[in-house]
Amino acid sequence: MTEAILLVGGKGTRLRPLTVRTPKPMVPAAGVPFLTHQLARIRAAGVEHVVLATSYLAEVFEPYFGDGAPLGLRLEYVTEVDPLGTGGAIRNVADRLSSGADEPVLVFNGDILTGLDIAGLVDRHVAAGADVTLHLTRVADPRAFGLVPTDATGRVTAFLEKPQSPEEIVTDQINAGAYVFNRSVIDAIPWDRPVSVERETFPGLLAEGAHLQGVVDASYWLDLGTPQAFVRGSADLVLGRAPSPALPGSPGDHLVLDGAEVAPDAKLTGGTSVAAGARIRSGARVHGSAVLAGAVVDTDACVRDSLVGAGARIGAGCVLDGVVVGDGATVGRGNELRHGARVWCDATLPASSVRFSSDR
Ligand code: GTP
Repeated sequence: MTEAILLVGGKGTRLRPLTVRTPKPMVPAAGVPFLTHQLARIRAAGVEHVVLATSYLAEVFEPYFGDGAPLGLRLEYVTEVDPLGTGGAIRNVADRLSSGADEPVLVFNGDILTGLDIAGLVDRHVAAGADVTLHLTRVADPRAFGLVPTDATGRVTAFLEKPQSPEEIVTDQINAGAYVFNRSVIDAIPWDRPVSVERETFPGLLAEGAHLQGVVDASYWLDLGTPQAFVRGSADLVLGRAPSPALPGSPGDHLVLDGAEVAPDAKLTGGTSVAAGARIRSGARVHGSAVLAGAVVDTDACVRDSLVGAGARIGAGCVLDGVVVGDGATVGRGNELRHGARVWCDATLPASSVRFSSDR
Protein backbone atom coordinates (compact mmCIF):
# COMPACT_ATOMS: atom_id res chain seq x y z
CA MET A 1 0.00 0.00 0.00
CA THR A 2 1.49 3.37 -1.04
CA GLU A 3 2.24 5.81 1.79
CA ALA A 4 1.81 9.58 1.62
CA ILE A 5 3.56 12.65 2.99
CA LEU A 6 1.56 15.86 3.32
CA LEU A 7 3.44 19.15 3.53
CA VAL A 8 1.54 21.39 5.95
CA GLY A 9 4.29 23.45 7.59
CA GLY A 10 4.26 26.66 5.51
CA LYS A 11 3.53 30.05 7.07
CA GLY A 12 0.79 30.84 4.54
CA THR A 13 1.81 34.49 4.40
CA ARG A 14 -0.29 35.26 1.32
CA LEU A 15 -3.41 34.22 3.22
CA ARG A 16 -2.91 36.52 6.20
CA PRO A 17 -4.83 37.39 8.35
CA LEU A 18 -6.55 34.00 7.92
CA THR A 19 -3.28 32.31 8.85
CA VAL A 20 -2.38 34.51 11.81
CA ARG A 21 -3.94 32.06 14.29
CA THR A 22 -4.60 29.05 12.07
CA PRO A 23 -2.19 27.25 9.73
CA LYS A 24 -3.45 27.33 6.14
CA PRO A 25 -4.48 23.63 5.98
CA MET A 26 -6.66 24.12 9.10
CA VAL A 27 -8.62 27.11 7.76
CA PRO A 28 -12.18 25.84 7.17
CA ALA A 29 -13.31 25.35 3.58
CA ALA A 30 -16.90 24.22 3.04
CA GLY A 31 -17.39 23.74 6.77
CA VAL A 32 -14.33 21.65 7.74
CA PRO A 33 -10.59 22.35 7.94
CA PHE A 34 -9.32 22.27 4.36
CA LEU A 35 -6.93 19.41 5.19
CA THR A 36 -9.93 17.14 5.89
CA HIS A 37 -10.88 17.23 2.21
CA GLN A 38 -7.34 16.29 1.17
CA LEU A 39 -7.04 13.49 3.70
CA ALA A 40 -10.42 12.06 2.67
CA ARG A 41 -9.43 12.06 -1.01
CA ILE A 42 -6.09 10.43 -0.21
CA ARG A 43 -7.88 7.73 1.81
CA ALA A 44 -10.39 7.20 -1.01
CA ALA A 45 -7.41 6.49 -3.29
CA GLY A 46 -6.45 3.55 -1.07
CA VAL A 47 -3.71 5.18 1.04
CA GLU A 48 -3.73 4.24 4.75
CA HIS A 49 -0.53 5.69 6.21
CA VAL A 50 -0.02 9.47 6.03
CA VAL A 51 2.79 11.49 7.61
CA LEU A 52 2.06 15.17 8.18
CA ALA A 53 5.16 17.38 7.96
CA THR A 54 4.30 20.29 10.26
CA SER A 55 6.13 23.42 11.37
CA TYR A 56 4.16 26.69 11.60
CA LEU A 57 1.50 26.41 14.37
CA ALA A 58 2.26 22.68 14.42
CA GLU A 59 0.47 22.06 17.72
CA VAL A 60 -3.07 22.38 16.30
CA PHE A 61 -3.05 19.40 13.91
CA GLU A 62 -2.86 16.42 16.26
CA PRO A 63 -5.60 17.53 18.70
CA TYR A 64 -7.98 17.77 15.73
CA PHE A 65 -7.07 14.71 13.62
CA GLY A 66 -5.60 12.46 16.34
CA ASP A 67 -4.42 9.08 15.06
CA GLY A 68 -6.58 9.46 11.94
CA ALA A 69 -8.82 6.50 12.78
CA PRO A 70 -12.13 8.36 12.15
CA LEU A 71 -10.91 8.96 8.59
CA GLY A 72 -9.71 5.37 8.25
CA LEU A 73 -6.09 6.53 8.24
CA ARG A 74 -2.98 5.97 10.32
CA LEU A 75 -1.67 9.51 10.81
CA GLU A 76 1.75 10.50 12.09
CA TYR A 77 3.08 13.98 12.81
CA VAL A 78 6.65 15.20 12.43
CA THR A 79 7.44 18.79 13.39
CA GLU A 80 10.37 20.87 12.17
CA VAL A 81 11.60 23.25 14.83
CA ASP A 82 13.00 25.50 12.10
CA PRO A 83 11.18 25.17 8.77
CA LEU A 84 13.18 22.99 6.37
CA GLY A 85 11.43 23.98 3.13
CA THR A 86 9.48 21.53 1.00
CA GLY A 87 12.43 19.19 0.26
CA GLY A 88 13.87 19.31 3.76
CA ALA A 89 10.42 18.54 5.17
CA ILE A 90 10.07 15.47 2.94
CA ARG A 91 13.53 14.20 3.96
CA ASN A 92 12.81 14.91 7.62
CA VAL A 93 9.93 12.40 7.76
CA ALA A 94 11.77 9.62 5.88
CA ASP A 95 12.33 7.51 9.00
CA ARG A 96 8.55 7.18 9.43
CA LEU A 97 8.15 5.48 6.04
CA SER A 98 8.13 1.72 5.69
CA SER A 99 8.37 1.68 1.87
CA GLY A 100 11.40 -0.02 0.31
CA ALA A 101 14.02 1.91 -1.72
CA ASP A 102 12.34 1.21 -5.07
CA GLU A 103 8.78 1.71 -3.86
CA PRO A 104 6.70 4.80 -4.64
CA VAL A 105 5.76 7.38 -1.99
CA LEU A 106 3.10 10.05 -2.59
CA VAL A 107 3.86 13.66 -1.61
CA PHE A 108 1.29 16.46 -1.55
CA ASN A 109 1.40 20.19 -0.97
CA GLY A 110 -1.16 20.91 1.74
CA ASP A 111 -2.93 23.74 -0.05
CA ILE A 112 -4.10 22.24 -3.33
CA LEU A 113 -7.72 21.44 -4.13
CA THR A 114 -7.86 18.96 -6.98
CA GLY A 115 -9.80 16.14 -8.57
CA LEU A 116 -6.55 14.39 -9.53
CA ASP A 117 -6.75 10.59 -9.97
CA ILE A 118 -4.25 9.85 -7.18
CA ALA A 119 -4.05 6.08 -7.70
CA GLY A 120 -3.67 6.74 -11.44
CA LEU A 121 -0.66 8.98 -10.74
CA VAL A 122 1.07 6.12 -8.89
CA ASP A 123 0.21 3.70 -11.71
CA ARG A 124 1.68 6.06 -14.31
CA HIS A 125 4.83 6.47 -12.20
CA VAL A 126 5.37 2.73 -11.97
CA ALA A 127 4.57 2.18 -15.67
CA ALA A 128 7.05 4.89 -16.72
CA GLY A 129 9.77 3.54 -14.43
CA ALA A 130 10.39 7.13 -13.26
CA ASP A 131 12.41 8.36 -10.30
CA VAL A 132 9.86 11.12 -9.62
CA THR A 133 6.47 11.75 -11.23
CA LEU A 134 4.86 15.20 -11.05
CA HIS A 135 1.22 16.06 -11.48
CA LEU A 136 1.10 18.91 -14.02
CA THR A 137 -1.88 21.10 -14.75
CA ARG A 138 -2.53 23.48 -17.63
CA VAL A 139 -3.32 27.11 -16.82
CA ALA A 140 -4.77 29.81 -19.05
CA ASP A 141 -2.19 32.39 -17.99
CA PRO A 142 1.14 30.71 -17.17
CA ARG A 143 2.98 34.01 -16.48
CA ALA A 144 2.70 33.72 -12.71
CA PHE A 145 4.10 30.17 -12.54
CA GLY A 146 7.27 28.17 -13.05
CA LEU A 147 6.78 26.10 -16.22
CA VAL A 148 7.37 22.36 -16.67
CA PRO A 149 7.68 21.36 -20.34
CA THR A 150 7.63 17.66 -21.27
CA ASP A 151 8.56 15.65 -24.39
CA ALA A 152 6.20 13.48 -26.45
CA THR A 153 6.45 10.66 -23.88
CA GLY A 154 5.65 12.95 -20.95
CA ARG A 155 9.23 13.07 -19.69
CA VAL A 156 10.11 16.41 -18.06
CA THR A 157 12.67 18.33 -20.15
CA ALA A 158 13.18 21.44 -18.01
CA PHE A 159 12.08 23.48 -14.99
CA LEU A 160 11.72 27.07 -16.10
CA GLU A 161 11.39 30.12 -13.85
CA LYS A 162 8.37 32.42 -14.23
CA PRO A 163 8.44 33.59 -17.87
CA GLN A 164 9.44 37.24 -18.31
CA SER A 165 8.52 37.57 -22.01
CA PRO A 166 5.99 35.92 -24.39
CA GLU A 167 8.82 33.93 -26.08
CA GLU A 168 9.60 32.27 -22.75
CA ILE A 169 6.08 30.82 -22.49
CA VAL A 170 7.03 27.49 -24.08
CA THR A 171 4.25 25.51 -22.40
CA ASP A 172 1.11 26.07 -20.32
CA GLN A 173 2.00 23.19 -17.98
CA ILE A 174 2.81 23.98 -14.36
CA ASN A 175 3.75 21.98 -11.28
CA ALA A 176 0.44 21.11 -9.60
CA GLY A 177 1.88 20.18 -6.19
CA ALA A 178 1.38 16.38 -6.11
CA TYR A 179 4.26 13.98 -6.67
CA VAL A 180 5.30 10.35 -6.55
CA PHE A 181 8.90 9.86 -5.35
CA ASN A 182 10.83 6.64 -5.29
CA ARG A 183 11.79 6.18 -1.65
CA SER A 184 15.49 6.20 -2.56
CA VAL A 185 15.13 9.72 -4.02
CA ILE A 186 13.71 10.96 -0.69
CA ASP A 187 16.61 9.41 1.22
CA ALA A 188 19.10 11.24 -1.02
CA ILE A 189 17.78 14.75 -0.13
CA PRO A 190 20.18 16.55 2.27
CA TRP A 191 18.82 16.22 5.81
CA ASP A 192 20.65 18.94 7.68
CA ARG A 193 19.53 22.16 5.95
CA PRO A 194 16.50 23.74 4.24
CA VAL A 195 15.88 22.42 0.72
CA SER A 196 13.23 23.40 -1.83
CA VAL A 197 12.07 20.53 -4.06
CA GLU A 198 10.88 22.99 -6.69
CA ARG A 199 14.04 25.08 -6.87
CA GLU A 200 16.77 22.59 -5.91
CA THR A 201 15.79 18.90 -5.88
CA PHE A 202 13.90 18.67 -9.19
CA PRO A 203 16.31 20.77 -11.31
CA GLY A 204 19.24 18.92 -9.70
CA LEU A 205 17.76 15.51 -10.51
CA LEU A 206 17.14 16.57 -14.10
CA ALA A 207 20.74 17.78 -14.47
CA GLU A 208 21.95 14.39 -13.20
CA GLY A 209 19.93 12.61 -15.87
CA ALA A 210 17.24 11.21 -13.55
CA HIS A 211 13.86 10.27 -15.04
CA LEU A 212 11.22 12.84 -14.08
CA GLN A 213 7.84 12.08 -15.56
CA GLY A 214 5.03 14.61 -15.94
CA VAL A 215 1.38 13.58 -15.82
CA VAL A 216 -0.97 16.20 -17.19
CA ASP A 217 -4.38 15.83 -15.62
CA ALA A 218 -7.27 18.04 -16.70
CA SER A 219 -9.42 17.57 -13.58
CA TYR A 220 -10.35 20.42 -11.21
CA TRP A 221 -7.27 22.17 -9.81
CA LEU A 222 -6.85 25.22 -7.60
CA ASP A 223 -3.97 26.45 -5.45
CA LEU A 224 -5.63 27.89 -2.35
CA GLY A 225 -2.68 30.14 -1.51
CA THR A 226 -4.47 33.49 -1.82
CA PRO A 227 -7.67 34.71 -0.12
CA GLN A 228 -9.56 34.95 -3.43
CA ALA A 229 -8.55 31.41 -4.38
CA PHE A 230 -9.39 30.07 -0.92
CA VAL A 231 -12.89 31.54 -1.02
CA ARG A 232 -13.38 30.23 -4.59
CA GLY A 233 -12.21 26.75 -3.53
CA SER A 234 -14.57 26.66 -0.56
CA ALA A 235 -17.52 27.67 -2.76
CA ASP A 236 -16.55 25.10 -5.43
CA LEU A 237 -16.55 22.38 -2.77
CA VAL A 238 -20.03 23.40 -1.63
CA LEU A 239 -21.29 23.55 -5.23
CA GLY A 240 -19.83 20.10 -5.96
CA ARG A 241 -17.50 21.46 -8.69
CA ALA A 242 -14.51 20.33 -6.63
CA PRO A 243 -14.84 16.73 -5.47
CA SER A 244 -14.51 15.80 -1.79
CA PRO A 245 -15.72 12.80 0.19
CA ALA A 246 -15.53 15.01 3.32
CA LEU A 247 -18.17 17.61 2.42
CA PRO A 248 -20.40 17.77 5.53
CA GLY A 249 -23.65 17.71 3.55
CA SER A 250 -24.90 17.34 -0.01
CA PRO A 251 -23.45 19.57 -2.74
CA GLY A 252 -25.71 22.53 -3.54
CA ASP A 253 -26.08 26.29 -3.62
CA HIS A 254 -25.23 26.63 0.05
CA LEU A 255 -24.19 24.63 3.07
CA VAL A 256 -25.47 25.45 6.55
CA LEU A 257 -23.85 23.47 9.35
CA ASP A 258 -25.69 22.27 12.43
CA GLY A 259 -25.87 24.99 15.05
CA ALA A 260 -25.92 27.88 12.58
CA GLU A 261 -28.88 30.29 12.55
CA VAL A 262 -30.09 31.70 9.26
CA ALA A 263 -33.07 34.10 9.12
CA PRO A 264 -35.86 32.79 6.86
CA ASP A 265 -35.59 35.80 4.53
CA ALA A 266 -31.78 35.78 4.27
CA LYS A 267 -30.41 34.58 0.92
CA LEU A 268 -27.44 32.20 0.69
CA THR A 269 -26.18 31.46 -2.82
CA GLY A 270 -23.15 30.61 -4.96
CA GLY A 271 -21.64 27.95 -2.69
CA THR A 272 -21.83 29.92 0.56
CA SER A 273 -21.04 27.96 3.71
CA VAL A 274 -22.19 28.95 7.20
CA ALA A 275 -20.41 27.27 10.12
CA ALA A 276 -21.75 26.17 13.50
CA GLY A 277 -22.73 29.03 15.79
CA ALA A 278 -22.75 31.60 12.98
CA ARG A 279 -25.80 33.82 12.50
CA ILE A 280 -27.12 35.33 9.28
CA ARG A 281 -29.74 37.94 10.13
CA SER A 282 -32.86 39.10 8.33
CA GLY A 283 -32.49 40.46 4.80
CA ALA A 284 -28.79 39.60 4.55
CA ARG A 285 -27.49 38.24 1.25
CA VAL A 286 -24.37 36.07 1.19
CA HIS A 287 -22.98 34.82 -2.13
CA GLY A 288 -19.96 32.58 -2.79
CA SER A 289 -18.61 33.18 0.70
CA ALA A 290 -17.49 31.32 3.80
CA VAL A 291 -18.85 32.46 7.17
CA LEU A 292 -16.82 30.76 9.88
CA ALA A 293 -17.87 29.58 13.34
CA GLY A 294 -19.65 32.07 15.57
CA ALA A 295 -19.52 34.93 13.05
CA VAL A 296 -22.50 37.28 12.60
CA VAL A 297 -23.73 38.85 9.36
CA ASP A 298 -26.21 41.48 10.45
CA THR A 299 -29.46 42.72 8.94
CA ASP A 300 -29.45 43.62 5.23
CA ALA A 301 -25.69 43.19 4.87
CA CYS A 302 -24.50 42.01 1.46
CA VAL A 303 -21.44 39.73 1.43
CA ARG A 304 -19.97 38.41 -1.81
CA ASP A 305 -16.89 36.24 -2.55
CA SER A 306 -15.57 36.93 0.94
CA LEU A 307 -14.43 35.09 4.02
CA VAL A 308 -15.77 36.13 7.41
CA GLY A 309 -13.48 34.81 10.15
CA ALA A 310 -14.48 32.98 13.31
CA GLY A 311 -16.40 35.22 15.70
CA ALA A 312 -16.23 38.25 13.38
CA ARG A 313 -19.19 40.63 13.12
CA ILE A 314 -20.40 42.29 9.94
CA GLY A 315 -22.67 45.22 10.78
CA ALA A 316 -26.09 45.95 9.35
CA GLY A 317 -26.15 47.21 5.77
CA CYS A 318 -22.45 46.55 5.10
CA VAL A 319 -21.34 45.68 1.58
CA LEU A 320 -18.35 43.28 1.33
CA ASP A 321 -17.03 42.05 -2.02
CA GLY A 322 -13.77 40.10 -2.30
CA VAL A 323 -12.81 40.75 1.32
CA VAL A 324 -11.24 38.78 4.15
CA VAL A 325 -12.32 39.63 7.68
CA GLY A 326 -9.99 38.18 10.32
CA ASP A 327 -11.15 36.19 13.34
CA GLY A 328 -12.82 38.32 15.99
CA ALA A 329 -12.89 41.51 13.88
CA THR A 330 -15.86 43.89 13.91
CA VAL A 331 -16.94 45.76 10.80
CA GLY A 332 -19.35 48.44 12.02
CA ARG A 333 -22.65 49.05 10.26
CA GLY A 334 -22.76 50.74 6.86
CA ASN A 335 -19.19 50.07 5.70
CA GLU A 336 -18.39 49.19 2.09
CA LEU A 337 -15.26 47.06 1.58
CA ARG A 338 -14.10 45.70 -1.77
CA HIS A 339 -11.23 44.47 -3.94
CA GLY A 340 -9.14 42.30 -1.66
CA ALA A 341 -9.43 44.39 1.52
CA ARG A 342 -8.13 42.52 4.56
CA VAL A 343 -9.45 43.38 8.01
CA TRP A 344 -7.05 42.13 10.65
CA CYS A 345 -8.01 39.80 13.50
CA ASP A 346 -9.79 41.60 16.37
CA ALA A 347 -9.72 44.97 14.52
CA THR A 348 -12.75 47.23 14.86
CA LEU A 349 -13.92 49.38 11.98
CA PRO A 350 -16.30 52.06 13.29
CA ALA A 351 -19.72 52.39 11.63
CA SER A 352 -19.79 54.09 8.19
CA SER A 353 -16.02 54.65 8.10
CA VAL A 354 -14.95 53.13 4.73
CA ARG A 355 -16.74 53.39 1.38
CA PHE A 356 -15.77 52.70 -2.23
CA SER A 357 -18.62 54.77 -3.58
CA SER A 358 -20.54 57.92 -2.68
CA ASP A 359 -23.06 57.53 0.13
CA ARG A 360 -25.71 59.03 -2.13
P1 GTP B 1 2.99 31.46 1.41
O1 GTP B 1 3.79 31.93 2.59
O2 GTP B 1 1.71 32.24 1.27
O3 GTP B 1 3.76 31.38 0.13
O4 GTP B 1 2.47 29.96 1.70
P2 GTP B 1 3.25 28.65 2.20
O5 GTP B 1 4.05 28.97 3.39
O6 GTP B 1 2.22 27.57 2.39
O7 GTP B 1 4.24 28.30 1.01
P3 GTP B 1 3.93 27.47 -0.31
O8 GTP B 1 2.52 27.75 -0.76
O9 GTP B 1 5.02 27.68 -1.26
O10 GTP B 1 4.06 25.97 0.23
C1 GTP B 1 3.65 24.86 -0.50
C2 GTP B 1 3.32 23.75 0.48
O11 GTP B 1 4.49 23.35 1.19
C3 GTP B 1 2.29 24.14 1.52
O12 GTP B 1 1.46 23.03 1.73
C4 GTP B 1 3.12 24.45 2.75
O13 GTP B 1 2.42 24.15 3.95
C5 GTP B 1 4.30 23.52 2.59
N1 GTP B 1 5.56 24.07 3.12
C6 GTP B 1 6.22 25.17 2.67
N2 GTP B 1 7.36 25.35 3.37
C7 GTP B 1 7.42 24.35 4.28
C8 GTP B 1 8.36 23.99 5.31
O14 GTP B 1 9.39 24.65 5.52
N3 GTP B 1 8.08 22.88 6.06
C9 GTP B 1 6.96 22.13 5.84
N4 GTP B 1 6.74 21.06 6.62
N5 GTP B 1 6.04 22.44 4.90
C10 GTP B 1 6.28 23.53 4.13
